[in-house]
Amino acid sequence: LTLVVPAAAASRPLVVAHRGASAYAPENTVAAFRLARDQGADMFELDVQETADHHLVLMHDTTLSRTTDVEKVFPGRSPWRVGDLTLAEIRGLDAGSWFSRKYAGERVPTLGETLREMRGSGLGLLLEIKEPRLYPGVEARVAEEIGRDTGWRGRIVVQSFDWESMRRFHRLVPGVPIGLLGTPPVADLPRLAAFADQINPPYAGVTAGYVRRVHRLGMKVLTWTVDAPAAVRRLTGAGVDGVITNRPDVVREVAG
Ligand code: G3P
Ligand code: CA
Repeated sequence: LTLVVPAAAASRPLVVAHRGASAYAPENTVAAFRLARDQGADMFELDVQETADHHLVLMHDTTLSRTTDVEKVFPGRSPWRVGDLTLAEIRGLDAGSWFSRKYAGERVPTLGETLREMRGSGLGLLLEIKEPRLYPGVEARVAEEIGRDTGWRGRIVVQSFDWESMRRFHRLVPGVPIGLLGTPPVADLPRLAAFADQINPPYAGVTAGYVRRVHRLGMKVLTWTVDAPAAVRRLTGAGVDGVITNRPDVVREVAG
């Protein structure tokens, strides 16, 4: 695993800001990523999708409705899918007002812009490719974009719920660590370890025994979405390598 783990994190799990510090700022915006850095996160997580004209933008849902004003701006474009609008159209949207007036005018970032803005932060990046089946060829586009920015070398992990997509990504760029979202059965772990570096499950079912099985194969466990102090303590005890949280400040307070 070539991920650069900050020295301060050696005795505690890595703190990964889920869609940025998304309890306090609109998810998947540069404002949320900057706040994650200010709150002491080691890494930030984001979701990548593709516009109709094949630009990479950050959005969690496959439609723009929940986190932008798209329905007001383009009333005739239902169901407002990310992949149906162009970059120029999406860049005209407000991605902050739904969260609070304070963030009015925040834009949907491109992946390239985010890499430029956050390059100097020192944080690592957990990059999720969201619904890759909707965007044939997205793995190559992500590989090209992150390969262009040499300042990020060794600081990016790429993850997805779609494990076949991650196998393809690994074939394209074997040097970038891969995370698999979900909880694969223990019996499947050895074959997945052939291309994966992390198993990243929802936290409820994570046990010390499962973490040990993953560790034995040389992989790490980053679990989500952990905001409650009691859960942070339990998972630290179970030996996880990272917690993915909407509240990096809370997790730093508990985990050190
Ligand atoms: O990084 C873990 C987490 O992001 C996976 O779920 O739905 O928030 O993308 P979701
Ligand atoms: Ca995600």
